[in-house]
Amino acid sequence: VDQASGEKLITELRRVVGDNHVLSESELRARYERDWTGRFVGQCQAVVRPANTDEVAQVVSILNNLGVAAVAQGGNTGLVGGGVPRGGEVVVTLERLTEIASLDKRSRQVTVGAGATLQSLQSHLQGSGLAFGVDHGARSAATIGGMVATNAGGIHALRYGTMRFAVAGLEAVFSDGTVMSRMSGLVKDNAGYDLPQMIVGSEGTLALVTKARLRLVKDLPERATALFAVDDTQSAVELLMLLRDEVPSLEAAEVFYKDGLELVSSYLGMHKPFAGDHPAYVLVECAASYDPTEELAQAADGANTRDVAVAVDAVRRNELWSYRESHTEAINAQGIPHKLDVSVAVSAMPEFEAQVRELIAEAAPQALCILFGHLGDGNYHVNILGLEPDDETVDRRVCELVAYCEGSISAEHGIGIAKRDLLSLTRTEQEIEAMRKIKAALDPNNILNPGVIF
Ligand code: MLT
Ligand code: ZN
Repeated sequence: VDQASGEKLITELRRVVGDNHVLSESELRARYERDWTGRFVGQCQAVVRPANTDEVAQVVSILNNLGVAAVAQGGNTGLVGGGVPRGGEVVVTLERLTEIASLDKRSRQVTVGAGATLQSLQSHLQGSGLAFGVDHGARSAATIGGMVATNAGGIHALRYGTMRFAVAGLEAVFSDGTVMSRMSGLVKDNAGYDLPQMIVGSEGTLALVTKARLRLVKDLPERATALFAVDDTQSAVELLMLLRDEVPSLEAAEVFYKDGLELVSSYLGMHKPFAGDHPAYVLVECAASYDPTEELAQAADGANTRDVAVAVDAVRRNELWSYRESHTEAINAQGIPHKLDVSVAVSAMPEFEAQVRELIAEAAPQALCILFGHLGDGNYHVNILGLEPDDETVDRRVCELVAYCEGSISAEHGIGIAKRDLLSLTRTEQEIEAMRKIKAALDPNNILNPGVIF
């Protein structure tokens, strides 16, 4: 960028959002330029912090006119490099759009600004009798806009679906600065293409999400959490099937393994949950308007497990959850991981697990492979430590195995820049061409997160 056009850009952006909300100094930009694994880092020209939809629209319009790329950013908890700059873009952070409008109890919907964190929405709903159906470990930082843009999944998808199922309406800014506001939240609304749903999961490449109208679910205050120790993935899957049949309150079923538990326990400085070690663990959450402990205990009696710990009070439940939810942080603390978020049919998980371990042991004997994920969704997080950051050979082979197992190379994190060269493994040429045409039609100057997905 030549200096004169760089200065013109900053001046125009400052005119819209005010001097304090255009960050051009490198120390101020730094936290927006690096993802939380440290794998994706890039320099932007500036970070701009609009305060509302109108300012977002003006900012995007300026960038479009000047031909400068925009990287939309929420809580910067993404894991595929889709929310941090690659070089020379402007980061448009939605972090100031935090407003949560009053709850519409009759429709059971709430309107939330893109920059509100998941946790702030959860606190807002407390005591209302309603809850938000999507939840995940990055709740304190991840924002609703980012979750919409990536169609976030998380730990309750087996009961309530992914973000897509929760989006009843959307407000978003297109590349030319026009605003789409489809916020009526109607249950039935088949007037032409569903543009809001097309934007869900588009990773900042079709529009910038500024607000979402979200469907809520009944809050279920009675909870029980159980951690089962099991022989292997096959037993984990059988346990899941049993719980699905016999425990109507089932809300989450997660899986992790001996090596992951080892790493997390020492990272957290916590005792391991059982006296002995076990090959695999299934963490289960039940929620109902009645006490679900009894139905969970009964099902557990009939299950083929090695040990179980059950918790009903919040402190102990959180403790059990921390063994699962701290995997990401504990792994990041070891080094820069390669992360492959993939899914296969639940019934294919045992086979996939065995083969992926074998593949990694053979292709990268020096690497440490930690597997964990969302058992109920067939969603594995394959984390590999000890590979060169830019060496993609093992990533590709893992994704080829996923394709061979008829799974998806991205379950819930998106394609970002991490997997764009792998997209054709689970999408046909015709499908990718159709996606490209949509992208070109909605963003003819290719300014919205260019390089992401394709
Ligand atoms: C999780 O399930 O913990 C998240 O998807 C984060 C991760 O994969 O590391
Ligand atoms: Zn996950």
